[in-house]
Amino acid sequence: MGTVMQGSRILLIIGGGIAAYKSLTLIRDLKREGFRVVPVLTRAAEEFVTPLSVAALAGEDVHRYLFDLTREAQMGHIQLSRDADLVVVAPATADLMAKMAGGHANDLASTLLMATDKQVLIAPAMNVRMWNHPATQRNLALLRSDGIQRVGPEEGDMACGEFGPGRMAEPEHILAAIRLVLGRSRSAPLRLGPEVAARPLIGKHVVVTSGPTIEPIDPVRYISNHSSGAQGTAIAEALRDLGAKVSFVTGPATVPPPDGVEVIRVQTADEMRAAVEAALPADAAVMAAAVADWKVANRTEHKMKKDKGGMPVLEFAENPDILAWVSQLKARRPKLVVGFAAETDDVIANATAKRLRKRVDWIVANDVSTGTGTFGGADNTVSLILDSGVESWPRLGKAEVARRLANRIAEAL
Ligand SMILES: Cc1cc2nc3c(=O)[nH]c(=O)nc-3n(C[C@H](O)[C@H](O)[C@H](O)COP(=O)(O)O)c2cc1C
Repeated sequence: MGTVMQGSRILLIIGGGIAAYKSLTLIRDLKREGFRVVPVLTRAAEEFVTPLSVAALAGEDVHRYLFDLTREAQMGHIQLSRDADLVVVAPATADLMAKMAGGHANDLASTLLMATDKQVLIAPAMNVRMWNHPATQRNLALLRSDGIQRVGPEEGDMACGEFGPGRMAEPEHILAAIRLVLGRSRSAPLRLGPEVAARPLIGKHVVVTSGPTIEPIDPVRYISNHSSGAQGTAIAEALRDLGAKVSFVTGPATVPPPDGVEVIRVQTADEMRAAVEAALPADAAVMAAAVADWKVANRTEHKMKKDKGGMPVLEFAENPDILAWVSQLKARRPKLVVGFAAETDDVIANATAKRLRKRVDWIVANDVSTGTGTFGGADNTVSLILDSGVESWPRLGKAEVARRLANRIAEAL
């Protein structure tokens, strides 16, 4: 994940709230992850943290004034708002949120927020009554409809001695939200609006396999299957959206891999097994790849020639059973192993037997017989087979199957 975001430039606007001290930790964490942080302090923020501390941690000048003559000769405030990859407001005070919702531009922070062409992520922080006040909630609704992203606030004890929602999200949660918003902006720049607040998989690592494997016959020919990688890709996206760090091990799929995950490309089942092993340890493994059961034992290093006469005879050898292998690991076994069973007959019975035989925690069973359109299609009809029984889900889009599964995984972890 680090490589996707490395060097991204965050314009960090610090508002005048008690949580401003946590923004110092955020700056340190961002810098550690290779981000560049350009800090802006509001007048009120200076009452809580000093420009010197902020500048020292960010390793950058702190911007404080709208009417700064040297910069304004070049319209510095416009430049500042455009050079960023993402604008983050942390803490976003009630006052700053009101200014944003109202379109005010009467100091450097509010003017930058009006002038920017980049996504904006706010981390609100305020007393619980201020947060619950109808004015704040009204402003929040406006900001949401303007496509402003939000992380937090979280619930807990507050500096003012009260308890409830209003605490600024912890720096690690803001960092995860920043990664998410930046990851998204590459593929879907206008998919704005949803809050990035509820992210139960932050701090969890999940390995997802996806796509088919291909097993060479000779340097130009291979055996493979119809897996498009659509379901595995959707699962990786759903897990990422819940905050997980995802290692995505994929065979040559027809759908592109998601943004914001670590992508490891492989060809054969042997390579996939090695890649999964290298990605461990993990909290969960979701094995959605359609791994070829057999490889060609008598594959040739040179192209088989037709003019040699006769028909080639292929001999097969068994491929590693990656799902059984990962399920039966001792110390490095992920807490939760989820397998897929693509069956054409007796779907539930076969998948249930597979779960027990391989010691998998959950199996997602789907019917891939001709006419179901599962391979390469948009929908999937699956049953989730757990220790406690079988849940049959209705026919759903693959993204919805992925979201449900990711939520179940979050509950289990
Ligand atoms: C000790 C103290 C703590 C404060 N904490 C917060 C806070 O956490 N959130 C908030 O919205 N306002 C808080 N305020 C009020 C803001 O500082 C005030 O509304 C200010 O105008 C906000 O300025 P800004 O728009 O630059 O953020 C606090 C004020 C004081 C004196």
